[in-house]
Parts: sequence; structure tokens; C-alpha cells
Amino acid sequence: MNIIKVKDPVAGGVAAFGIIKEAIAAGAKTLGLATGSTPETLYRAMVESNLDFSNITAFNLDEYVGLSKDNSQSYYYFMQEHLFKYKKFKQHFIENGLAGDLEAEAAAYEAKLQAHPIDVQILGIGLNGHIGFNEPKTSFASLTHVTNLTESTINANKRFFERVEDVPTKALTMGIQSIMRSKQIILLAYGAAKAPIIKKLLEGPVSEDVPASVLQKHPRVTVIIDEEAASLL
Ligand code: GLP
Repeated sequence: MNIIKVKDPVAGGVAAFGIIKEAIAAGAKTLGLATGSTPETLYRAMVESNLDFSNITAFNLDEYVGLSKDNSQSYYYFMQEHLFKYKKFKQHFIENGLAGDLEAEAAAYEAKLQAHPIDVQILGIGLNGHIGFNEPKTSFASLTHVTNLTESTINANKRFFERVEDVPTKALTMGIQSIMRSKQIILLAYGAAKAPIIKKLLEGPVSEDVPASVLQKHPRVTVIIDEEAASLL
């Protein structure tokens, strides 16, 4: 894996944007996007740029089950606020967490993904090593699916909600195999809290106990980390 160490999240966003820009110049047509606080500086760099995304298709990794599009904690809402209200894309997709039949929604999303191979996938990482909402022990062969969030994830994400009871307990997420099909992957992580999981991602065994460790098997991954996230390497 290619590791880029940056001074701070702003520099990380600029570095990731540079890779995306280069990929688009080389013909990339489909981006995989992530939520969480980590990619915010990347989206700012995209918004502040004059790069044209109107020929680009975007897919988001995941969405909570049970939150409507206008709920400020839904990932749909996050993407509107941070990117899509400023930049026009050809089309952008995110799982529908209000679908009556969630299994059917997951299968339909997976089919759409397979019809639009992702050129560059952006990832953050959970404190427990999750990518998207693929929690520890998710099969490396998984496709888009419905998942139960772990206590660690619910606790990490409760800061965005008024009460811990308000944090959804289920989500729809691209699977590990769906993510690994991307031609190129950029994983972003900042801050001291991420240092132990970054060490496991880069130096630990490849194991379903640490979903992100699967990236060691991907031929084209760039990990962009600040000094704090790199502090245990
Ligand atoms: C969330 C998202 C992930 C994200 C992770 C880290 O649960 N589903 O895609 O990478 O948690 O979030 P943050 O960037 O806020 O640390």
C-alpha cells in the first residue's frame, strides 16, 4: 500500500483530491464516496476546485436504515450538504434506508454497482476497523447487504445524535467484495484515536476481525494519514 503522511486533515483532503483529479484526467467515470467526518476536507477541496464532475457517476458506500433523506444525520443529507448541492454530478446513488424490502434494495444497489465499475473508492475507517458499515467478522466475500451496527460503532456515532437511542442500529452497506472490486482505493484517517487501527490495517494480519485489513490484498491502495494517526507505525 502506498502511504502518504500529511500535516493535517486539510492537507489530506488536498492530497486525496489530487489523486481523484489525476484519475478523472485519465478517464475515470465513477467515484465511490464515503461519509463520516473524515472525508469532509476532501469534499471541501472538490467544491472549491473548478473541476467538472458533470460526467461523473457517484456511489455512496452506506446509509442508515430508518432515517429519511431530510434527516440531518442521514448520509443522503450529509452528501447534499458537503458536495452535491455545490457540484453537479451526472448521477449519484446511495442506498435507500427507508426501503420496505431492505434485502431487495441491497440486491438492486449491488446490481447497479456492478453495472458501473468504480474507478476510485474513498474510504474512512471505523475505530474497530470497519469500512463502509462492514463490521468485524463480515465476510470478505460480502456484497451490498443489511447489517447490524456494533456497540463500538453506535457509541462512536452517537456524538451526532441527541440521544444514544436515536442512533440507528442497522444500515445498508456495500460489501467488502463490492469495495475490493474498485480499481483504486483511497483510505483517509486522521487523529490519535485512529492510530491503533491504522497500525492493524497496515501491519496486522489480514483477517475478517479487522475488515480494513483486506486492503492489503488490493493492488492499488493509497492510505492518507496525518501524523497522529501514523504515530504508532
Ligand atoms: C462511519 C461510516 C464509515 C466511516 C466511519 C468513520 O460509521 N459508516 O464509512 O469511515 O464511520 O467515521 P469518521 O470519519 O467520522 O471517524
